Amino acid sequence: MTDLLFDPLKLRGVELPNRISMAPMCQYSSVDGFPGDWHLRHYAERAVGGTGLIVVEATAVLPEGRITPGDLGIWDDEHAEALGKIARVIKAAGAVAGIQIAHAGRKASTARPWEGGAWLPRDKGGWATAAPSALAFESYAAPQALDEAGITAVVAAFASAARRAVAAGFEVVELHSAHGYLLHQFLSPLSNARSDRFGGNLEGRMRLPLEVASAIRGALPETMPMLVRISATDWMVGGWDIEGSVEYVRGLKALGVDLVDVSSGGLVAAAKPVLGPMYQVAFARAIRERTGAKTGAVGMITEAAEARSVVDGGAADIVSFGRLLLRDPYWPIRNAPTERRRSPLQYLRAFPS
Ligand code: FNR
Repeated sequence: MTDLLFDPLKLRGVELPNRISMAPMCQYSSVDGFPGDWHLRHYAERAVGGTGLIVVEATAVLPEGRITPGDLGIWDDEHAEALGKIARVIKAAGAVAGIQIAHAGRKASTARPWEGGAWLPRDKGGWATAAPSALAFESYAAPQALDEAGITAVVAAFASAARRAVAAGFEVVELHSAHGYLLHQFLSPLSNARSDRFGGNLEGRMRLPLEVASAIRGALPETMPMLVRISATDWMVGGWDIEGSVEYVRGLKALGVDLVDVSSGGLVAAAKPVLGPMYQVAFARAIRERTGAKTGAVGMITEAAEARSVVDGGAADIVSFGRLLLRDPYWPIRNAPTERRRSPLQYLRAFPS
């Protein structure tokens, strides 16, 4: 019987010790984009718990691209130095250190979730937002439509962020093009009403996300894997869908993207995803089968048998856990077959073989 979950996976020059990844999860605990002690403990703990790939939370490539004032940032060289500590503690625990780079577009400038999460006006610490078109998300203020210079700046910011991620010691970079943030806003016809070459048909709407992916790939060493997170569907009639996603992933793959992390939704609040255990796994499978790209599955995967069925059944190459690892950082060690357990040497007496 195949049991791949605890098998290594080679992506370019990097070997993931197993197929378990920690999904990027904002901690909203940064000051001016800088990580603090919270982040060190948070990420180190999951790496010690046996997760093979840690993907550090959405890290903004420009200050206006933060979802909240508490988001991590990577728009300055000083951020890279501070983020380097996170990469070090992850690697010291035997995991692979990844980071998600992001721009929130029209969904930027909101309060932290535990402060209500509402749109933040300027006088409450918020800022003006930018997006493909001046179409507001829900009750947020309307963003400014990016002009050509703004678009060029976004591409450059993602490339610089990738270079800084390398300098910080990260071994994997994930581009965030999901959940209704800036690049997804370009992809979806519900948020992109542009009439220039960055809008219109599928090719036009994919142009900026593919240019960004290409710029990032060009900024990374040949040996370093690049991941992209996508929303496979908007869950809305007339919105971004699996057909567009397949074309987009074909484009990403041709640019040298190594694995696509398949999520969904986030573009509009009216969407009604059909939630349930493993509800996004079918999207990961469809993309893997139709494009030949490696995929990651994520979303409401909580049982060991479920996670094993995802990789053994060929729906995805890796499984990402989000909230499960917040509740239970030691899930991977506890669920590994004894001979594959990756416990720190210091803790061997707690996990005798
Ligand atoms: C998230 N999610 C998320 N996604 C992403 O691409 N970048 C991010 O920074 C965040 N931030 C974030 C914060 C918190 C607190 C949660 C709970 C979630 C989504 C996350 O990566 C994952 O896709 C979902 O949580 C679904 O997976 P689980 O939690 O059902 O395993």
